[in-house]
Amino acid sequence: MDLKIAVIGGDGIGPEVTAESVKVLESVGRRFGHTFTWKTGQMGGCAIDKYGTPLPDETIDMILGCDAILFGAVGGPKWDDPRAKTHPEDGILRIRKELGLFANVRPIKVYPDLMDSSPLRRERLEGVDMVIVRELTGGLYFGRPKRRWENARGRRAVDTLSYTEKEIERVVRVGFDMARSRRNKLTSVDKANVLESGRLWREIATELHDEYRDVELTHLLVDNAAMQLITNPAQFDVIVTENTFGDILSDEASVLAGSMGMLPSASLTSPPPKKGTRRRRSGKPSLYEPIHGSAPDIAGQGVANPVASLLSSAMMLRWSFGLHKEADAIEKGVDAVMSEGFRTRDIAGEGDKCIGTVQFGDMVAGAVAG
Ligand code: IPM
Ligand code: MG
Repeated sequence: MDLKIAVIGGDGIGPEVTAESVKVLESVGRRFGHTFTWKTGQMGGCAIDKYGTPLPDETIDMILGCDAILFGAVGGPKWDDPRAKTHPEDGILRIRKELGLFANVRPIKVYPDLMDSSPLRRERLEGVDMVIVRELTGGLYFGRPKRRWENARGRRAVDTLSYTEKEIERVVRVGFDMARSRRNKLTSVDKANVLESGRLWREIATELHDEYRDVELTHLLVDNAAMQLITNPAQFDVIVTENTFGDILSDEASVLAGSMGMLPSASLTSPPPKKGTRRRRSGKPSLYEPIHGSAPDIAGQGVANPVASLLSSAMMLRWSFGLHKEADAIEKGVDAVMSEGFRTRDIAGEGDKCIGTVQFGDMVAGAVAG
């Protein structure tokens, strides 16, 4: 295949880890006979500095001509002033809405070697392997009215949690399909005891279950889900939930893995292709990014962990292009380098061989080449 990829490194360590993904994907291309065309664009704080906006139209136009997006991270103290007109994060929200990235997929897997870096006891972590599917273009983030005003009684602000039937259905469907490709268990998380939107969510998940009788469906209230993620995380296979709940629960779940530096994510414009099929290239591109942020404190030092970005590029191959063998090659390459005891500083323990971002990427590229 010939794949055209938008590369948006962003701020902080974003460009450093993304460069390693480009390197490793090139290696995949050489081994499996694919060619990549790389298009670069700016987004986040660096775009605010250059264009006065976190997501310039030029970047959007460039992205729309590509098959998928490899994204780094945005933000940093330089752009944190709450009184500023615009923030790097506004760029993320705009790209989600403009492209229709409605399903955010965050797999959480515990590497046996890293269990001791998690604040949870080893017994709790054994067998943890879950995927959180978070709705990404609705709910409180985008609902109207959304505003702030002031009158004689003081300041006031409103956000709106609103969902349509169609918005709920398409993301819950991604959850069911994902469960089918894994251990056939779906947990739908809502707040149906209090919120109207939660009651609708539960009703639609229950209705859809008729089409997925082979999947075991459980409903959990979000507060209870937050507790069970810590007390019994290994029970979860796929979790599907609305935007804000998913934001909170996925940060909570990331702690299980011991390091944010290991966790990839995908934001999809359409459901992933069924196993054994290659994606027809049409519609808008999906976006792949590490879940860690821009980590400005370690930017430019060559010590960032590229694993989350590398695993995100594997997700890209799998879910945007149906290239499963190629995705496996990256995941196995990461495993191989890790199992030889090589680690970046964030996860290096006693006796490990501590290496830098570029060296780690070189080794994975070498492992992929075979
Ligand atoms: C995330 C982040 C974003 C979100 C922020 C940066 C807007 O926390 O991707 O989870 O809230 O969605
Ligand atoms: Mg978040």
